[in-house]
Amino acid sequence: SRILVLNGPNLGRLGTREPDVYGSGTLDDLRAVLEADAPDAAIDLRQTDAEAELLGWLHEAADTGEPVILNAGAWTHYSYALRDAVSMVTKPGGTVIEVHLSNPHAREEFRHTSVISAVSTGVVAGFGFESYRLALAYIRRNAR
Ligand code: DQA
Repeated sequence: SRILVLNGPNLGRLGTREPDVYGSGTLDDLRAVLEADAPDAAIDLRQTDAEAELLGWLHEAADTGEPVILNAGAWTHYSYALRDAVSMVTKPGGTVIEVHLSNPHAREEFRHTSVISAVSTGVVAGFGFESYRLALAYIRRNAR
C-alpha cells in the first residue's frame, strides 16, 4: 500500500536551509531513510512550494483513503484552507500525521500555533527525520 509523505514550502531546500535547525539531510536522504524503514510499502514523498498543489494532494488522499505524513512548513501556522483539506481526509476516518523536524514550541511565538493539529490524527515534532520515522511506524502498525 502507498503512504503519502507530503512536504510544504521551503522543505525542498533541506540540507542547506538552516542546518542547525533542520539538520544536514536532504529530502532525498529522507526518502531513503523511510524506504529503508518500510521496504514493502510504496513511500510517495513529494514537496511543493505552491499551496494549491498541496491541497490537490490532500484531495487525492481524501479520495483514496491513503495515509498521509504531512510537514506543511509555515502553512501549518495560518492556512485554514490547509486545515479544511486535512479534515477532508481525517473526518471520514483517514489518517494525517502532522510532523515537524524542529520543535515549533521551542521557537518563535508565531510557530506555537498550528491550525491543523486539531484535525490531524496526531502530531510528532522535534526529532528531525525521526519525526517522520515515528509517524511511519504508527501508520504501519495502525493505519491501512
Ligand atoms: C517546520 C516548522 C515550521 O515552523 C517551519 O515554517 C518549517 C519547517 C519543521 O519541520 O520544523 O518550514 O514545519
